[in-house]
Amino acid sequence: MSVIILGIESSCDDTSAAVVKDCVLLSNVIASQRVHEAYGGVVPELASRAHQQNIVPVVSEAIRQAGIKKEEIDAIAFTRGPGLPGSLHVGTSFAKGLALALDIPLVDVNHLHGHVLAHFIKEDENTEVPTFPYLCLLISGGNSQIVKVNAPNDMEIMGQTIDDAAGEAFDKCAKVMGLPYPGGPVIDKLAAEGDATRFKFAKPHIQGYDYSFSGLKTSFLYTLRDEMKLNPNFIEENKADLAASLQKTIIDVLMNKFTKAIKDTGIKTIAIGGGVSANSGVRAAVEQYCSRRRIKAFIPKRTFTTDNAAMIAVAGHFRYLDKQFCDIAAPPFSRVTI
Ligand code: KG4
Repeated sequence: MSVIILGIESSCDDTSAAVVKDCVLLSNVIASQRVHEAYGGVVPELASRAHQQNIVPVVSEAIRQAGIKKEEIDAIAFTRGPGLPGSLHVGTSFAKGLALALDIPLVDVNHLHGHVLAHFIKEDENTEVPTFPYLCLLISGGNSQIVKVNAPNDMEIMGQTIDDAAGEAFDKCAKVMGLPYPGGPVIDKLAAEGDATRFKFAKPHIQGYDYSFSGLKTSFLYTLRDEMKLNPNFIEENKADLAASLQKTIIDVLMNKFTKAIKDTGIKTIAIGGGVSANSGVRAAVEQYCSRRRIKAFIPKRTFTTDNAAMIAVAGHFRYLDKQFCDIAAPPFSRVTI
């Protein structure tokens, strides 16, 4: 029998609801919050207020677009963490209320599992999905991890950042260049016009599969500071080359550990996920590495790289099948690993 899951995502600054039927996507509605742009970053209190305004219309629209009646939903999957506490509370409370009203199970989803399992969102019955085990490079605004996925509900972290995430490196460096938030997509666009060999920034020397981006960020900052002393227009005159060189350094750091993990495990199916996996350079580097070595690479559609409820619904689908239900009293958690 088919399973219909309503997914709800509210961990940061996107309010999203999606409906999947046996992982086939019936709807995926996302309301992005523009209110933060003026502040150069997400303001938690404004985010939770915007979620409160958006959640009812977003969920109603997702159910309407899916062409189902709410009584047909088998379970509600919601992001329980990690994320901003106030934002998570909105989605969690709404999911609980609706599950109680419909008298259906509630399934809590780790947001990071959502990114890792986004490759199981089927646009139609024929969408190809990864086989297990696969290695996923999870790169978002708050996390950079190499995850070994043994089964939908069985994941191991092989490595992770010991300080900043890759997305933070993009965003913070963009901020010091005076670029708008979030900086990742802006750097990506600028990098296409620049010379990636022009500037050299520090790369970390960390054991194992762990990442570090704070040294790179500091070295970027020092380069700008020193050059600005000589030429106050340095950033404006060199922004494309700065963006291209920064992006290349971040990609080199990411690929160094990811390819080490691929070689060491011998796993032939890999995937990328999270907001930074939208980056053109990251996508090209992964595709190129894999095509030369007959490794099957799953690169998500850009819509499924940033926060969306479709991935939460799909991750919820697998938890529902394993009967991993959530107690109605379960609180959201702001910090959690895989
Ligand atoms: O996964 P996500 O939407 O949110 C978290 O769960 O953290 O990721 C957001 C991050 C931001 O740091 C943003 O700058 C980055 O993803 N990002 C990009 C690109 N698009 C989004 N970074 C580099 N290139 C992009 N094209």
